[in-house]
Amino acid sequence: MTPMIHILNGPNLNLLGRRQPEIYGRETLDDVAAACAAIGAEAGLETRLLQSNWEGQIVDWIHEARESAAGIIINPAALTHTSVAVLDALNTFEGPVIEVHISQVHKREAFRHHSYVSHRADAVMAGFGVHGYVLAMRHMAHLLG
Ligand code: DQA
Repeated sequence: MTPMIHILNGPNLNLLGRRQPEIYGRETLDDVAAACAAIGAEAGLETRLLQSNWEGQIVDWIHEARESAAGIIINPAALTHTSVAVLDALNTFEGPVIEVHISQVHKREAFRHHSYVSHRADAVMAGFGVHGYVLAMRHMAHLLG
């Protein structure tokens, strides 16, 4: 069976491409899904990209990943900086977890410098724009290869 990678996205990322493009760029989450699927096809990985504005939905998807995913790529968006619940859920997942931030969060406001999710993430990408998802997929392929 082809290993599945869940690419989870938190609040406001449904507006990617239209939301503060000077920070997050003009590419949409559909563009990200297509780019990740293309890397997956090369690397023998299936991808499933999901987005929610609701913390509990992200937690539920992480629980589902326990059953069906070999790895998780997650941009928790604002939940990065607030959510012990997302961290606790990720701590129940046994495969690799890669945290992605489109912007370079350490160059931004102080409240973006701390990440609960980084307590669990095996690797963190920040400041690569949406290309960070592609790099995360390549690293996931390397880890699972
Ligand atoms: C973000 C950075 C977060 O601080 C912010 O709340 C987001 C997006 C990023 O991808 O750069 O919504 O995770």
